[in-house]
Amino acid sequence: MTAAADGATPRPARPARQAPPVDLAALIADPDTRIIVCCGSGGVGKTTTSAALALAAAEAGRRVVVLTIDPARRLAQSLGLEELDNEPREVDVPGIPGRLDAMMLDMKRTFDDIVVAHSTPERAEQILANPFYQTLSSSFAGTQEYMAMEKLGQLRTAERWDLIVVDTPPSRSALDFLDAPNRMSRFLDGTMIRVLTAPARAGGRAGFKFASAGFLIFTRIISKVLGGQLLRDISAFVSALDTMFGGFRERATATYELLRRPGTWFVVVATPEPDALREASYFVDRLSAEGMPLAGLVLNRTHPPASTRLSATRAEAAAEAAAEADDGSPAALVAGALRVHADRMTLAAREQRLADRFTSAHPEVGMRAVPAAAGDVHDLEGLRVMAEALTGPDGDTPTGVPRTRVLPARRA
Ligand SMILES: Nc1ncnc2c1ncn2[C@@H]1O[C@H](COP(=O)(O)OP(=O)(O)OP(=O)(O)O)[C@@H](O)[C@H]1O
Ligand SMILES: [Mg+2]
Repeated sequence: MTAAADGATPRPARPARQAPPVDLAALIADPDTRIIVCCGSGGVGKTTTSAALALAAAEAGRRVVVLTIDPARRLAQSLGLEELDNEPREVDVPGIPGRLDAMMLDMKRTFDDIVVAHSTPERAEQILANPFYQTLSSSFAGTQEYMAMEKLGQLRTAERWDLIVVDTPPSRSALDFLDAPNRMSRFLDGTMIRVLTAPARAGGRAGFKFASAGFLIFTRIISKVLGGQLLRDISAFVSALDTMFGGFRERATATYELLRRPGTWFVVVATPEPDALREASYFVDRLSAEGMPLAGLVLNRTHPPASTRLSATRAEAAAEAAAEADDGSPAALVAGALRVHADRMTLAAREQRLADRFTSAHPEVGMRAVPAAAGDVHDLEGLRVMAEALTGPDGDTPTGVPRTRVLPARRA
């Protein structure tokens, strides 16, 4: 049996390249770091990582605000976020040298605030009451991403914090955070909406005067499908928006630019699973294409074994021997423990293989492995443990496995 098959020491075709370490401790302590955005596919630990990094930064003496999106209830509670009030609140962390504020994004409220801030009271009232607006502001795909960026812009403008840590919405794809705002503004500014809303904008049916017969049939069909009332709602809403501010596209572009400013860093979070790492890979490529700086990859919920001295193969063999010798003595217990160790070594080897595959595709991307905690991470103590895994020195871990890896690198 080869070493690769025993699950203890992966042997790729070429020796795996070791990912460079990520120095998140230096990144959060650097006064030039102003925004950190945690991205990744659904459920990988973006919210938890954001909160842990923010806590670590406050413990390093910075004034930090963390913008969380849909945090789990218990995590929200331990950050003092009992109600969704769309404003940052100070988190009570005793003896902290810096300051930690936290907030949960209220997407609808953020949207309402934009409307109110950019229109007259009467117009704002009309828009807020418009059924199309109500749907758009609470459930349209992309609204959450758009509003997260909007809120980030507001927090940045307030100049109350020297570091903003941003969590991103729970979308399937990490890229949605970058794409959704533009998609939404394209939809609102788009040709179809313009055609559909032409009558309102031109002040009545005259707007259709120059439309071809084909277009008229098209809009009639659309009108049937969507319903006349909805069209009128969209129409009223878009024309109100048009006069309110320069349109959604300009706004989306402005907030997007914030992400490219010096001082903004992205942290990509993934679990050691093929889908999550594939998403992370797309995202890394996209960031580099957009010239947006990547701090590194957090490989979250890894399973490093308690010791790497005993390989999976030897543990399995020893378990078999112990089980054969079973005469009701503690041997069965020993066999059980050895099998647990063998499984753990096999799992860690698989996770390391996936991590190595990512590193061969992106050798420049630093990596930091964060072991899975025994239960959920939902209180300050759990966040502290996670913060230590994210920012502690690379060597010198409890398991002896460097934090850049799930298993120690194979010696050549
Ligand atoms: N290192 C860890 N060890 C144990 N549990 C973890 C760890 N990291 C995250 N979790 C748990 O995994 C769950 C998902 O984490 P989290 O909510 O941070 O993910 P997310 O990427 O924000 O998810 P979503 O895409 O739904 O927003 C939570 O219950 C959290 O407590
Ligand atoms: Mg989340």
